[in-house]
Amino acid sequence: MIICICHRISDRDITRAVREGCASFDELQDETRVATACGACHDCAHQSFHAQARAGAGGCPRSPHAGAQALQLAGA
Ligand code: FES
Repeated sequence: MIICICHRISDRDITRAVREGCASFDELQDETRVATACGACHDCAHQSFHAQARAGAGGCPRSPHAGAQALQLAGA
């Protein structure tokens, strides 16, 4: 599903960015440019980012710290 029409960023792109180590929404924006043009997608992109972080998409799946990083990303 496309989240950001301006930059053609999908929910899968956000998931991939989180898996590759984006640790904050600001980092996600730096990496993908999501929500940096008209801003209409900001809330949806923000929710998608935090949902992915809560789901444990953050960090290397083989890292012993992956779960802790996901909790940190989710603000727990
Ligand atoms: S739809 Fe994402 S910045 Fe415009």
